[in-house]
Amino acid sequence: GKQLRIAIDGPASAGKSTVAKLAAHRLGYIYCDTGAMYRAVTWWALQKKVALDDDLALAKMLAQLEIKFVPAKEGQRVFVNNNEVTKEIRMPTVTNNVSTVAAQVSVRKVLTQRQQEIAAGGGIVMDGRDIGTTVLPDAEVKIFLVASVKERALRRFRENQAKNIPTSLTKLEFEIEERDRKDSTRTVSPLVKAEDAIKVDTTSLSIDEVVTKIMRIVENKL
Ligand code: C5P
Repeated sequence: GKQLRIAIDGPASAGKSTVAKLAAHRLGYIYCDTGAMYRAVTWWALQKKVALDDDLALAKMLAQLEIKFVPAKEGQRVFVNNNEVTKEIRMPTVTNNVSTVAAQVSVRKVLTQRQQEIAAGGGIVMDGRDIGTTVLPDAEVKIFLVASVKERALRRFRENQAKNIPTSLTKLEFEIEERDRKDSTRTVSPLVKAEDAIKVDTTSLSIDEVVTKIMRIVENKL
């Protein structure tokens, strides 16, 4: 069949990666988590003490940076220059600093190019903030996933509880709003719905219901 390019964008913690992974699995497509790439750059910059708003220094660093995804049972493992950073890139220090790195022009230019190379053959589900608008403007399917801040914070809260990570719901809400604000107001490729993207509000939907909705949209294009 056709090897579609499926772009899934939306704000922080809207469930993009969960449903993107499931949809990719059902279709036998590649899954690419572009947020993990921005997170990997942020983690490495923190390690190397490169200033997170120093675009040129970050670009120089990035030229020597190999980001690798390795499929695994629990999803995907992420490596930076052969160091596994799967868990590290989800830590609060990375989460709360990634938007600064993601606002840098050269960083976006390099990562956008790498993402376009990964998607070149089609048969891919890619999630992020600017996939439908900038990375794959010609994607056959574009989804914009949203959910209320309260619901997104609650989902993260429950996830953390399950992992025995103590967090405050109010703090999570604040951090999610802060990241949305930074991602939506930056000058380069801000988080915005592509005109031709289909908006799916997941606030009162289960994961299964969201995946079913997306699969219906995809099947129309196959
Ligand atoms: O999707 P995730 O929450 O892991 O993304 C982390 C951060 O990476 C986002 O808050 C955003 O700043 C940045 N990002 C981006 N463009 C993308 C994907 C992620 O700017 N395509």
